[in-house]
Parts: sequence; structure tokens; C-alpha cells
Amino acid sequence: MPTDYAKNCERQLESLRDKEDITILAIESSCDETACAVTRGRNVLSSVIASQIEIHKRYGGVVPEIASRNHVMAVSQITSEAIERAGIKPDDIDCVAVTYGAGLLGALLVGVSFAKAYAYALGKPLIAVNHIRGHVAANYIADPDLKPPYICLIASGGHTAIVKVDAIEDIKLLGSTQDDACGEAFDKVARVLGLPYPGGPEIQKLAREGKPSVLLPTPLKNSEGYDFSYSGLKTAVINYVHTKEQKKEEYSKADVACSFQEKAVEIMTDAAVRAAEDNGLDTLVIAGGVAANERLREVMRNKAGKKGFKVYYPPLNLCTDNAAMIASEAYNLIRTGAKPADITLDASATVKITDVSPRV
Ligand code: KG4
Ligand code: ZN
Repeated sequence: MPTDYAKNCERQLESLRDKEDITILAIESSCDETACAVTRGRNVLSSVIASQIEIHKRYGGVVPEIASRNHVMAVSQITSEAIERAGIKPDDIDCVAVTYGAGLLGALLVGVSFAKAYAYALGKPLIAVNHIRGHVAANYIADPDLKPPYICLIASGGHTAIVKVDAIEDIKLLGSTQDDACGEAFDKVARVLGLPYPGGPEIQKLAREGKPSVLLPTPLKNSEGYDFSYSGLKTAVINYVHTKEQKKEEYSKADVACSFQEKAVEIMTDAAVRAAEDNGLDTLVIAGGVAANERLREVMRNKAGKKGFKVYYPPLNLCTDNAAMIASEAYNLIRTGAKPADITLDASATVKITDVSPRV
């Protein structure tokens, strides 16, 4: 039996569907960032991020239990700050959005529980957002002229995939990693080179001083699909470093970082450009934490430029985890007729890119 609150939320979402300047408060807590943003339409009124990187650095990666506890301590204050910086009152909020997955279960639960309570207290609808689709939606904030259809390369710490976006709500998976995600490989290679977490920005910095002189394999080279494998590439780098160290031979860490980054970028950009060609599309989009990589952006621009394709990617602060992208995906969902999340909404550690809303 739907409650009065549930029925009321459904009505509210129906009437918001045709409104352009919907005010959304979004919460994101899937990994090591507690984030809250307020958006109006595609405009970001505020975006507050409390990063836990300094806390997890000493362990060389994210410790899930520590992440959850820090989300609990931060979420309320971050939300108040986002509202204050946006210059709105809680009553101005039309809808609350929250990441329900994918991510660390305990970390997600903090955001989900808080958002459910917040939406209920305001008497406003709650929208459950798939984090991976949020990364794609970050691009609509950055480039309001971006319109499907396009090919999107999603590369983050947990996912690496090529998707075909036929409409804002219609995303088809063309290929994905068979093992490690690209960001995960950056983090693991960084660790073997003695660089701190998160490894992506550190590899990028060190790679600027190196040459791509270390020969590395191209996994799944002859496959016709768009799947990736980053585990083999990562292992090849680790073996190279360990062999050099065992033999007490000199080697350049900068060259290793540069060679790994070049290969990682080559694999992703080749697949994305091929996917665009095969599908007769001329627009390429990059999303996710690894989209912040300067070399990935440059190589994608070059390869796409040669084919006459357009390339879109978000500014750096919208590539890595943030809540504005969650609000942007919630906006897509509301405008395409989504139903509000139920008050029994649960977090999911794993979700598929094609999951528009939670499986119940
Ligand atoms: O999207 P994100 O913030 O979190 C997940 O949803 O996973 O992505 C984090 C990942 C980390 O693996 C991090 O090392 C990587 O993105 N990353 C980068 C860069 N900045 C962040 N990788 C390569 N180059 C960068 N500049
Ligand atoms: Zn992410």
C-alpha cells in the first residue's frame, strides 16, 4: 500500500517533468568523497566535496570502514554548507537525489540513509542515481550543447567501459573491462613505483619527465569487440619493475610511468574511436576519474580530430567523484518520467551501467 508520502512524491515528480529549472539537492558518498551539490536545471549553484584522500593515503588505498565512519561525520555539515553556498532555503529544493550504487556498501549506506531522511523530512521526492551514469551526465553540465547520440568512454577507479548513448536515458553497453578498471591499474602501478594514493594524478605527473621506452603488451589486441583488459598490462609493469629490482639494474620510474600511461591511453582511445566509426557517430565523450588525465584528453582530441569527430570531456572537478554529476543524472531521470525511490531504498555495491534505477 503506497503511503501518502509516496503518492505525494509521485505527483510532485509528474509536475516537475516539464519544469526546466528544477532545484535538486544531491548527495554522493560511494567511495572516499562526501559530496553534496545544489543544481538548478543544469546550473551548479554549489558543489561541496569533503575528500578523505589524506586519511586513506597512509594505508595506500581506501579502507572501507574508515570511509563509512568519515562519511557519517561529514554528511550533515557538507549538506548545510551546500545549501548555504547555493543561497537557497531547504524549502526551495524540488527533489533530493542520492547515489545508491555502485561503490562501497557501507559508504553508500550513509548517503542513502541521510538522503532518505532528508527527503522525507522535507516531504520531497527522492531519486536514486546510478553513480556510473552520473559520470556520463557530468558532461551535460559542462557542455549544455552536448546531445545524444554519441559514444562515451567511461574510465574510473571501479569501471572502464565503452557505451553508446542513444538518448539521455538510453545507454547501451558496447564493451567493458574483463578484469581491472583502468583507474585501478593506474593506482596499482603507482603503488609499485612507490607513489602515493590515488595513483592516477601521480603517474601523470611523473610521466611528463619520462619517455615511452618500456615495451608493454596490448591486451585483447586482435579482438573485434570493445572489451578491455587492464590486469595484463598492470602485471607486465609490475614484472618489469620487480625484475629490474631483483637484478639490481638501474631503471627510470618516469619512463615506466610514461610507458604505462601511453599504453593505457592508446587502448582506450583506439577502442572509443573505432566504436564511433563502427556506429556511424561523430561525437566522442569521456567520463570518470581517469577522464581527468591530460594525456588521455590530448590523445583523444588528436585521434578524433583526424577523423573530424567532436570530443567532449568535463572540467577536472567534474571528472572525479562529485555530487553535481549525480544531480545532473537525477535531472535526466525526472525529465524522462522516473518514479521516486521508495522509502525502503537500499544501497547496492554493484550496479550495471544499464541499470537506470534500483532493481527491487
Ligand atoms: O571516478 P573516480 O573519482 O572514482 C570512481 O568512481 O572510481 O575515479 C577515481 C580514479 C582513481 O583510480 C584515480 O587514480 C583516477 O581516477 N584518476 C586519474 C587521474 N585523476 C584521477 N587517473 C589518471 N590520470 C589522472 N589525472
Ligand atoms: Zn566515480
